[in-house]
Amino acid sequence: MTKVMTIIGTRPEGIKMAPVARALEASEYMESILLNTAQHRDMLDQVLDLFHLVPDYDLNIMKAGQRLEELTVRLFEGITPILEKEKPDVVLVHGDTTTTFIGAYASFLRQIPVGHVEAGLRTNTLYSPFPEELNRQMVGRLAAYHFAATEKNRQNLLKENARPDSIAVVGNTVIDALLEISERPFEFDDELKPIFENGKRTILLTTHRRENLEEMEQVYRAVQRIVQQHDDIQVVFPVHKNPVIRQKVMREFVDMKNIYLIEPLGYEQFVHVMKQSYLVITDSGGIQEEAPALGKPVLVARNTTERPEGVEAGTLKLVGTSEEAIVTAGETLLNDEKAYQQMAAVRNPFGEGNASRQIVDFLQSAGGQMEPAGIDRKQVLYR
Ligand code: UD1
Ligand code: UDP
Repeated sequence: MTKVMTIIGTRPEGIKMAPVARALEASEYMESILLNTAQHRDMLDQVLDLFHLVPDYDLNIMKAGQRLEELTVRLFEGITPILEKEKPDVVLVHGDTTTTFIGAYASFLRQIPVGHVEAGLRTNTLYSPFPEELNRQMVGRLAAYHFAATEKNRQNLLKENARPDSIAVVGNTVIDALLEISERPFEFDDELKPIFENGKRTILLTTHRRENLEEMEQVYRAVQRIVQQHDDIQVVFPVHKNPVIRQKVMREFVDMKNIYLIEPLGYEQFVHVMKQSYLVITDSGGIQEEAPALGKPVLVARNTTERPEGVEAGTLKLVGTSEEAIVTAGETLLNDEKAYQQMAAVRNPFGEGNASRQIVDFLQSAGGQMEPAGIDRKQVLYR
C-alpha cells in the first residue's frame, strides 16, 4: 500500500482535490489520508459537505483577517507533527496557496516526496498574483511529481529544468469536479430562483486577489456604470469572506438597483449561477478554467493570467482593472451579438474530466519508488 496524504486548506483546493481524494479512497493500492488545514473555514466546509469528504485531520487554522506571516507559522506548526506521526510515502498539494507552499515545504523538510497538482502555471511576474506566483514556483522547485493540466504548463516546468519523467499532463481536476456537479439534478433556492427568472441578463462578479485590492474600487465602479446603462442587466456578486474586500464592497456599492450582493455560494449553486449568467467578470483562477468549459465569456479583471489557454481559446479576455477598460469590454459584449458569440462557444482546454484517475494511476505505477529514478534523497544528520 502506498500511503498518500492530501493537504487542502482553501475553497478552490477543496473543489479541485475532492475528486483526487475520492479516487485515492477508491483505490485498493492506496491508503488515503486527508489533512484539512482549514485556512478557509466556512467556504471550504461548504465544499467538504458537497463532496461528502471527512478529513482525517482538521487544523482549524483560520482566524478573521489573518496575516500571511502568522498563517505561515501556524501552518508549519500544525502540519509538521502530523507528517511525523503519519509518515506518508507521498504528500499531494494543490495549486498556489499558503497551505500549498507550507504543506510542500514542511514535507520537503521531512524528506517526503511531494506531488504537485495543477503544476506549471506561471505568469513569471513575481508579485502577480501575490503571493501565489512565488508559492507555485517554490513548490515546482521541490516537487518530485508535477501533475500539469496542459502542455503549456509542462513546457513551463521544463524551462525550469524539471525532469521530463517527473511531469504528467493529466488535465485540470476542476473539470472532473465541474462535470460531476453540473450533471446532478438541481434547482435554485428561494433567494436565487426569482433572480434568474426575471428575464434580465446576468453579470456574475467575483473578486478577491490581494494584488488587486488597491484597484478593486475601479472594478466595482465599472460594473455599476454598466448596470446603470442597461435596464435589462443585473449583477450577482457573491462577496468573498475576506473582511478587507467586504469593507470595500460596502463602501463602493451605493445604488443597489439590479445589484445582488450575496454570501459566497456553495459550489453546486455557483456552477448553476455560472451556467445561467450572460458573462462573468472575475479575478478568480478557477473560474477562468470553468467558464471556457461552460461557454461563458469572462472578462479577467487582472493584469496577468497564468491561464493563457483560455485567452487563446477565445473565452477569456484579460482586461486589467481600469474602470474604462472594463466598461468598454463589457459594453462590447452586451451590445455586439457577434463579438459575444465569438467568445461564448463551449471550449475546454483544461481536460477531459479524468485528471484525478490519471493522477492516482500515475502514483500507483510509481509504487514504492516515490521519486523519479536518479533523484538521490540524502539522509541528513540533523532534522
Ligand atoms: C486564499 C489564497 C488564494 C486563493 C483564495 C481562494 C493564500 C495566500 N491565498 O486567499 O490563493 O485564491 O484563498 O479563495 O493562500 N475568510 C472567512 N471565511 C472563509 C475564508 C476566508 O471568513 O471561509 C476570511 C478570513 O477573515 C480570512 C480572510 O478571509 O482571514 C482571508 O483568507 P486567506 O485564506 O488568508 O486569503 P484569501 O484572500 O481567501
Ligand atoms: N466558487 C464557489 N462559490 C462562490 C464563488 C466561487 O463555489 O461563491 C468556486 C468557483 O466555481 C471556483 C472556485 O470557487 O471553482 C474559485 O475559488 P476562488 O475564486 O475563491 O479562488 P481561486 O480559484 O482564484 O484560487
